[in-house]
Amino acid sequence: MGELTIALTKGRLAYRTLELLEKVGITCEEMKDKNSRKLIFVNEELGVRFFLAKANDVPTYVEYGAADIGICGKDTILEEGRKLYEVIDLGFGTCRMCVCGPKEAGELLKHHQLIRVATKYPNIAKDYFYNKKHQTVEIIKLNGSIELAPLVGLSEVIVDIVETGSTLRENGLAVLEEICDLSARVIINQVSMKRENARITGLIRDLKDVLQEGLA
Ligand code: PRP
Repeated sequence: MGELTIALTKGRLAYRTLELLEKVGITCEEMKDKNSRKLIFVNEELGVRFFLAKANDVPTYVEYGAADIGICGKDTILEEGRKLYEVIDLGFGTCRMCVCGPKEAGELLKHHQLIRVATKYPNIAKDYFYNKKHQTVEIIKLNGSIELAPLVGLSEVIVDIVETGSTLRENGLAVLEEICDLSARVIINQVSMKRENARITGLIRDLKDVLQEGLA
């Protein structure tokens, strides 16, 4: 039996994922220590290895086969556009990808004006404005605190994740248009899916069963 490698997204998502994996009998005590700086954890008994990566890098590790399985947000999957199988919607980490800005900027979205859009997700923004809305825009890539951009005059609107909406509210911004719903997903390397088919499909089935029980 080969070792299965699972890439988790560092942070909150990793802990939610570990809780879920525990329910299907995949445990890793060592990984629960939130103060640990370790990146790789092995459960030799189960033949499973975990590692923690930055969200945006999880699809990359999975496409190249450095991880057989990955758990990351749908936002990352859409943005990265990697070759992989997306097999389960885990139903947690739910939020929305939206176009946001000051309320007045809503008008600029109606008349196909050339506006500036700041975002951490240039590919998602490009796809939405160019392919869905057919509006030519200038996309400006930022790395965080995206809400700042319209406040200091860098852009008219932003494309960003909205979870509770507090960041928008506290900064006088609003959702202008919704692009899509997001949540945590399980992704699989395409070769691993063939090579380790029985183990991986077994795991997918167990996870789906646990998720369904949770809904019942
Ligand atoms: C995310 C996102 C928003 C915020 C939304 O930022 O980019 O800024 O959370 O959450 P809310 O609707 O619950 O307020 P994150 O905290 O990941 O930091 P970032 O600014 O570095 O992207």
